[in-house]
Formats: sequence, structure tokens, C-alpha cells
Amino acid sequence: MVGFDHMVWLRETDSTQEVLKRGSYPEGTVVVADVQKRGKGRKGRRWESQEGGLYFSFVLSAKNFREVLQIPLVVGLSVSEALDSFGLPTTVKWPNDVYLKGKKVSGVLVERSGDKVVVGVGVNVNQSSFPEEIRETATSMFLASGKNFERKEVLMRVLGRSRENLELFSREGFLPFKERVEEKLLFKGEEVVVLSEKPVAGILLGVDGEGWLLLRTSEGIKKIVAGDVSLRPR
Ligand code: ATP
Ligand code: BTN
Repeated sequence: MVGFDHMVWLRETDSTQEVLKRGSYPEGTVVVADVQKRGKGRKGRRWESQEGGLYFSFVLSAKNFREVLQIPLVVGLSVSEALDSFGLPTTVKWPNDVYLKGKKVSGVLVERSGDKVVVGVGVNVNQSSFPEEIRETATSMFLASGKNFERKEVLMRVLGRSRENLELFSREGFLPFKERVEEKLLFKGEEVVVLSEKPVAGILLGVDGEGWLLLRTSEGIKKIVAGDVSLRPR
């Protein structure tokens, strides 16, 4: 299904998401950039994309998936497993981030454009510092380990895990990932607040068979469906 057999590696672009949304590329095409001038996070936020990081997007076809809302989590898990294979123990922050030593090392952005699903991944690989605004909250593989990594090798391992996991997700849905995600879930068993239209506070219990977050609140167990929601410690 997902081949990742076409790849374009650019020196610089606005955003690899926009490159794929503007053009018509076959499913599985991967666009990578050394630097992005307008890297995007969720909700129109900015993704710092200086030299040293890995920034790429790939395009999938929505018709291969019964649901697409869990794709950020499945790809986030794939990034986390790929970084673990370099000896860096990471956790997954539901629904779309990867953390290393308590700081954000990677983020996943999924955008729908007609039948196209454009999946973007930013991984902080060799950056030795970050802009002031995120200095306290961001880390890189280099900052966490003191070692430099080959970005191409990081890309290959993330794509390898993503291909395998997305294929399984497309065949069997989210259930096979429930335990794997729960093992890596940041804030599990801790008090959190989920920010959306109406904030919900509670103890993070895990995810259900569809990948939705389960919280024990004062009014019983609540299920939070992914979307534009943000999870915070309390
Ligand atoms: P949440 O996903 O819970 O809303 P978040 O603050 O991580 O939390 P996202 O929209 O997922 O929000 O990610 C975008 C945010 O990530 C930016 O607002 C910025 O704070 C942070 N950020 C931007 N660039 C980087 C980077 N290269 N590495 C780590 N963090 C970054
Ligand atoms: C987030 O945590 O909010 C998601 C960040 C996603 C960043 C990647 S970098 C490659 C691709 N191009 C973009 O402009 N954004 C994604």
C-alpha cells in the first residue's frame, strides 16, 4: 500500500506539507527539506525548522483507511520506535508528539486535502540549540545523547516503521496498537488536563481500542477523541 518509493530531497522550501498539497504526486511520495522557511505545527503554530533537523512529509490516499484521525498517533508511535532503535528511550504524547527526556523531540502533523492525506514529521536530530521560545520545551537527539546522527538513517528508520505500522493500521484498525501505545504513553497514571472547547481534568488511564484517550474524572471515565485537543500535565 504505502511504498515510499519516490523521494524528493530539497535544500530549502516553505513547508514540505505545502509542496505535497500544491502538486499532484503519487501516493507514497516523500518530500524532505534540509530547512523550512515556514514550517507548520498544528493549529497554525510554527515549527522551528533550522539546519540539523529532519523535516519531511508523505502523501497517503484516504481511501486506504477506514479512519484517519488515528494516523498522527500511529506515525508518532513509529517515530518513537525508530528513535528507540538508536538507543534513545522516547515516549508518545497523545495525540501527535514524541518526547525524549521530558522534552519534545518530534511532532506529527496530518492534513487532509480531498482524498489526499498529507503526513508531516519533524524530528530534531542534530540541533545544538533552539530559539528562545522553545528552549525549555524542545530537545534534539544530539542534545539528549551528545552524539550526532545521520539524518538519512533516521529518515529510513522512521519510514520503515511507518510503512509497517500504517499497513497494519489500514488492515486491522487501531486495536493492534493499543498496548504498544499505552506502554509508551507520556503522563500515564498522572493528573492531566485536556484542553479543547471545554477543558477536562483527570487521571490519564490509557487509550481505548480506537486510540481515544481515557481519563478518570470526578464524573466517571471520559473518552477524549483526537482532533484539535492538547494534553497538559496538571
Ligand atoms: P499540543 O500538541 O499538546 O497542543 P504543543 O505545544 O506541542 O502541544 P503542537 O501544535 O503539537 O503543540 O506543536 C507546535 C508547538 O511545538 C509550537 O507552538 C512550539 O511551541 C513547539 N515547537 C515548534 N518547533 C519545535 C521544534 N522544532 N521542536 C520542538 N518543539 C517545537
Ligand atoms: C506539531 O507538533 O505541531 C507538528 C509538527 C510537524 C512538523 C513537520 S516538519 C515537516 C512537515 N512540514 C511542516 O511544515 N510541518 C511538518
